[in-house]
Amino acid sequence: MGRVQGRVAIVTGGAGGIGSAIGRVLCQEGAGVLLVDADATALEEVAVDIRAGQGDVRLATLVADVGQEASAGQIVAKARDALGPIDTLVNCAGMRSYGPLADAKTETWERILAVNLLSYAWLTQAAIGDLRASGRGSVINVSSTHAVNPRAGMGQYDVTKAGIVSMTKTLAFEEAKHGLRANAVCPGLTFTPFHRKRAEAAGRTQEDIDAEAQGGCLMGRWADPMEMAYPVLWLASDEASYMTASVIMVDGGRFVT
Ligand SMILES: NC(=O)c1ccc[n+]([C@@H]2O[C@H](COP(=O)([O-])OP(=O)(O)OC[C@H]3O[C@@H](n4cnc5c(N)ncnc54)[C@H](O)[C@@H]3O)[C@@H](O)[C@H]2O)c1
Repeated sequence: MGRVQGRVAIVTGGAGGIGSAIGRVLCQEGAGVLLVDADATALEEVAVDIRAGQGDVRLATLVADVGQEASAGQIVAKARDALGPIDTLVNCAGMRSYGPLADAKTETWERILAVNLLSYAWLTQAAIGDLRASGRGSVINVSSTHAVNPRAGMGQYDVTKAGIVSMTKTLAFEEAKHGLRANAVCPGLTFTPFHRKRAEAAGRTQEDIDAEAQGGCLMGRWADPMEMAYPVLWLASDEASYMTASVIMVDGGRFVT
């Protein structure tokens, strides 16, 4: 039996580096998974790859913009229709914004708050009936090490990630009576296609990329997305049945001094 055998999970940002790894490992361990992403091409590629690697998987996909409130109901309806009642929600979709807070634009604030923070709230609300009814519901919110460790240059993004931590703890308080657990996972430097493309666009070599991580955490290297997926898998499983309101730093010791 798999570690999440028979579960039904929604994973947003499911075409991305970390979200696709989460979708892959949840499928491997027996869950039915709805991967949601705004990038239709990447989503299709990920789905083909997961199916090719695992054969008989319960996998569905939905192209949706999670930054629109109306998407939440559509995502939940699709998961229920394709896979059954939902007991696991992994909010992982995220966008980035660069630049000092002094220059931050209102339209960027509105968009990043909708995608990174409100989408987590909207989808939790839309799925709450199923999550409560399951008696062992699990919401896993992907935040960032920078939710609690400030830095210069990505203030809008970091604010959304701090909000996710707060939202997760409140949800844990409010929903414990329904057997629903809520936890946050805070990745550190995790090498994904996004980072590869960004580095290439800036003309940076693999050596430059590696050097960034060497001084950036105790582990001295970038994480592989699977190193984020396994903690999420654990939180989704009954192995973590006493875990709620936790904020798990998976950052290679990024800010340990
Ligand atoms: N990679 C890292 O180093 C790192 C570190 C800390 C936190 N995180 C967080 O982990 C999560 C996944 O990041 P990643 O590195 O895999 O990034 P990524 O860019 O590879 O994946 C993010 C995915 O979210 C999707 N997405 C963005 N906006 C969307 C929208 N409006 N609707 C639907 N889908 C949307 C993108 O298409 C993409 O597939 C994000 O929340 C990110 O903030 C990543």
